[in-house]
Order: sequence, then structure tokens, then C-alpha cells
Amino acid sequence: MDVNEVGRFWDENAPVWTRLARMGCDVCRDQFNTPGFLAMLPDVAGLSGLDLGCGEGANTRHLARRGARMTALDVSPTFVRLAADFDEGETTRIAYLVADGCLLPFAPKSFDFVTAFMSLMDMPGQERAFAEARRVLKPGGFLQFSITHPCTDTPYRKWIEDGDGRHIALSVADYFRENFGEICEWMFCHAPAELRETLPKFRIPDFHRTLSFYLNALADTGFVLERVCEPTAPDEAVERFPLLADSRIIPMFLIIRARLSR
Ligand SMILES: C[S@@+](CC[C@H](N)C(=O)[O-])C[C@H]1O[C@@H](n2cnc3c(N)ncnc32)[C@H](O)[C@@H]1O
Repeated sequence: MDVNEVGRFWDENAPVWTRLARMGCDVCRDQFNTPGFLAMLPDVAGLSGLDLGCGEGANTRHLARRGARMTALDVSPTFVRLAADFDEGETTRIAYLVADGCLLPFAPKSFDFVTAFMSLMDMPGQERAFAEARRVLKPGGFLQFSITHPCTDTPYRKWIEDGDGRHIALSVADYFRENFGEICEWMFCHAPAELRETLPKFRIPDFHRTLSFYLNALADTGFVLERVCEPTAPDEAVERFPLLADSRIIPMFLIIRARLSR
């Protein structure tokens, strides 16, 4: 599947995704994945940053609020329009554009840092995204990205439950089978039931790769691993959203920061 086709799937997902995310239904993102990402992020105040696969823009806005001068791109024109139209009543000054995260329309050494929140596993050609990030980064710049955890978000996965239906373990298989755009259908599980029943499910092309693929691709591109995080939901989040207890059984997300030498 090529990037144009990937973009069409995401463009169809964009209106419902944006509506639900802005209602607070992307609970994993808001309660522990993005907080884990931001806790690991170096000080970005005054730096120029590029966000790959910005979606409706919530995470790019976090970076802008931390004082970074942000450029954000997405392959979906609808996501870019919805992100650019969002008015929080505060100045976040973000430049948005439609582009492929694997073919960046920027001159070499344009940015101090590059981020990708939960978008690389959706891109056909993650190694090209790393190469492009390297090209547009200044010497000493860093790339920080989050992905679904490659060891647990496998092509086959099934929760094992106790007698009361509580998750106690996850069985995974096909870890080594790479995906080249297989469509996964799902919906935010914290969306209100009436919306889950009536709104169309997201249809997402999946490009599963192994953990060794990501780490070796980073090393081959010239990045040096700096920090890793497998975020878990804090107690208060689990109390409010009991399903987040899953994040204490298995690692759901992987956050990596890697840097170029000066
Ligand atoms: C799971 S969403 C994450 C959105 C956002 N970063 C967030 O954390 O809310 C993945 C995003 O990656 C975008 N995407 C997928 N393939 C892409 C590509 N080749 N180039 C740029 N964006 C891409 C999708 O359109 C979608 O907005």
C-alpha cells in the first residue's frame, strides 16, 4: 500500500477521530501516553520542532505551549485542516502542512528536534522517516517518537481473562510477520456507547515492525539511543478508567528518544 492510499484511509478517519479525541475519548493518549512522552522530553523552549503525523494537533499544541516553534504535518488534508482551524484562545503559532512523513519538504538542518506521536507504525517505510528526520535535523538534534509497543501490538493478540472477565494476560503471535497495510478496524473503547454503536469504526492501515527493526533502523541512520519509556497509567487514571489497568499487565506503548552527534 502506498502513501496516497494510506492518506485516504486516514482522511476518512479524521472527522470522527477528531470529534471523539476532543471529547476526551482518546483516554490512553491523554491519561498516560502523552504525559509519559512529555515527561521524557528535554526542554524545547525556543527550539524549532517538527511534528510528524500531527493528527488533530493536540500533541503539537502541547509542544508549542512549552515554547517550541512548531511545524506540524500530516498525510491527511482533513486532519491538517481540523488541526489548523482549532482555536484554543491562546497563541500556539504552529505552521501546518500536508506532507508525507517519509518525504519531507524541508531543507537539510532545518530543525532542532523532530517528534512523532503514535504515527510511525502507521507509515509505510519507517526507515525512510528516520532518514528524513536525520536529514532535516541540525547536528546534535533529537528525534523522539511513540509507537504502539511492537512486542504486544502484534498481528495476532488476544486477552486472557479470569473467571470474572478481568484481563490477566495477553497472548501474542505473528510477532515476526511484518504488515504492509493490513486494515485494522477499531474504535476508542472509551467513546460513549451510543456513539460506538452509530459512528463508523476507524479503518487503519497497519505497518507492524519488530522492536529490532526500529532499533537497528535508528542505529543504521546514525541516531544514538538516549532514553526509552514504556508508560503505565497512574493510580488516579486507573481509578477513573479501569481498563487502563491493562497498561500494568503489558507494555502498551514504547517511547524512544535518539540523537544525532554534533
Ligand atoms: C494514531 S494517529 C496520531 C495522531 C497524533 N499524532 C496524536 O498523537 O493524536 C496517526 C497519524 O499519522 C498520520 N500518518 C499516517 N501516515 C503518515 C505519513 N506517511 N506521513 C504523515 N502522517 C502520516 C495519520 O494521518 C494520523 O494523523
